[in-house]
Amino acid sequence: MAASSSSFVFAAALLVLAAATAAQAQRETKLRVFWHDVVSGGPNSTVAQVAEAPTTNASATGFGAVVVIDDPLTDGPNLTASRLVGRAQGMYVAAGKDALSLMMAMNFVFAGDGPYNGSSLAILGANPAERAVREMPVVGGTGVFRFARGYCQATTRWFNATTGDATLLLQLARSAQAPAAAMAKASLQLLLLLCVGAVAWAADDGGGGGAGMTKIKVYWHDVVAGPNPTAIRVAQAASTNASSTYFGAVVAIDDPLTSSPAAAAAGEVVGRAQGTYMFADQRVIGLLMDMNFVFTAGDHNGSSLAIMGRNEVMSPVREMSIVGGSGKFRMARGYAEARTVDSGFKSGETIVEYTLFVKA
Ligand SMILES: *[C@@H]1O[C@H](CO)[C@@H](O)[C@H](O)[C@H]1NC(C)=O
Ligand SMILES: *[C@@H]1O[C@H](CO)[C@@H](O)[C@H](O)[C@H]1NC(C)=O
Ligand SMILES: *[C@@H]1O[C@H](CO)[C@@H](O)[C@H](O)[C@H]1NC(C)=O
Ligand SMILES: *[C@@H]1O[C@H](CO)[C@@H](O)[C@H](O)[C@H]1NC(C)=O
Ligand SMILES: *[C@@H]1O[C@H](CO)[C@@H](O)[C@H](O)[C@H]1NC(C)=O
Ligand SMILES: *[C@@H]1O[C@H](CO)[C@@H](O)[C@H](O)[C@H]1NC(C)=O
Ligand SMILES: *[C@@H]1O[C@H](CO)[C@@H](O)[C@H](O)[C@H]1NC(C)=O
Repeated sequence: MAASSSSFVFAAALLVLAAATAAQAQRETKLRVFWHDVVSGGPNSTVAQVAEAPTTNASATGFGAVVVIDDPLTDGPNLTASRLVGRAQGMYVAAGKDALSLMMAMNFVFAGDGPYNGSSLAILGANPAERAVREMPVVGGTGVFRFARGYCQATTRWFNATTGDATLLLQLARSAQAPAAAMAKASLQLLLLLCVGAVAWAADDGGGGGAGMTKIKVYWHDVVAGPNPTAIRVAQAASTNASSTYFGAVVAIDDPLTSSPAAAAAGEVVGRAQGTYMFADQRVIGLLMDMNFVFTAGDHNGSSLAIMGRNEVMSPVREMSIVGGSGKFRMARGYAEARTVDSGFKSGETIVEYTLFVKA
């Protein structure tokens, strides 16, 4: 991208962001990473198609295909020669009936020795893949990116190791095959250049609360076994059963939230966690959580919070973004910390303490 055009978008975003949160100390940054959606290569593939409609294969745009991703992010365009800076974990859905357009819901999870190691950004947006430049919102972040807002711009790069660039996405749009099948045949990699422009976030308050911050503690009960499960697997890839991290499994949840760490049946239910989580990591058990905490009793009855983030379930504390809210939580931003109370290996009921830090 030309330097002049990127400075222009950067400046434009600064104005909007400053208006939205003028009261807070803001920091802005601009990142550039290359996103590699590796659909070829059998075991080296970083994506798994987990659901489709009966009509998907006949659709020129793959309409209805749902793909879970654990895509490498690098600092240069060549996957093997560049430095790995993180991974894009989550999913995309082919959500264009007449044109190839993807709904992207993913976390950019940063790793390595850079300043963003351990931090993440949540991206949720439309990716009309045939356009030269697509812009998607950055809706939240964790770690150094707590309270982040921003946008990213994606440009497709198509590299054939022998011949150089080609336009994979146009090729797909003209194909009568599902994207995964078409890409597998091409046996190449799609590279998207993502320029995460003007991510802004408020100064970290140290995690303890701070001015205007509401702290809420609830216990999340994920009942996967027994006669009355609150979490049901709704989709998976052909390869999911062979994956040690269940890569590709998608679970719909209606999990009780209680005010105490006891089993849900014994506790006071204050709400429900409704949405999905999906297994989006090929190395460790790492989930993309996409859920609403819907309060049905207590101080927050009638209000809700929207949470999106990465949940590496074996780590002691996981941070996820609170990306919005309703009722008394309108315009909310914040973050959640999750700590496992009971893994549920014996009971079939996983209990996790969620501490929510909300600015509303
Ligand atoms: C998978 O990756 C390994 C290591 O980079 C490589 O040797 C192998 O050829 C790849 N397999 C396929 C099917 O691309
Ligand atoms: C769609 O195509 C894929 C790959 O060719 C095949 O495995 C799958 O069974 C097809 N699905 C339907 C519903 O026809
Ligand atoms: C990245 O952070 C993790 C902890 O979050 C740490 O274990 C790891 O060593 C760090 N990696 C580098 C390269 O600094
Ligand atoms: C990517 O890097 C590898 C290793 O350095 C090199 O062999 C390959 O030719 C490069 N690919 C392209 C498209 O430049
Ligand atoms: C990639 O390059 C090879 C070698 O020139 C060629 O045979 C193949 O058709 C190219 N693929 C695409 C999709 O352009
Ligand atoms: C995966 O395993 C479950 C049982 O654990 C079974 O019901 C399902 O059919 C398997 N799926 C595939 C694609 O093999
Ligand atoms: C929660 O609010 C609804 C209406 O908004 C009300 O009907 C219900 O009784 C309330 N529940 C509790 C436990 O306060």
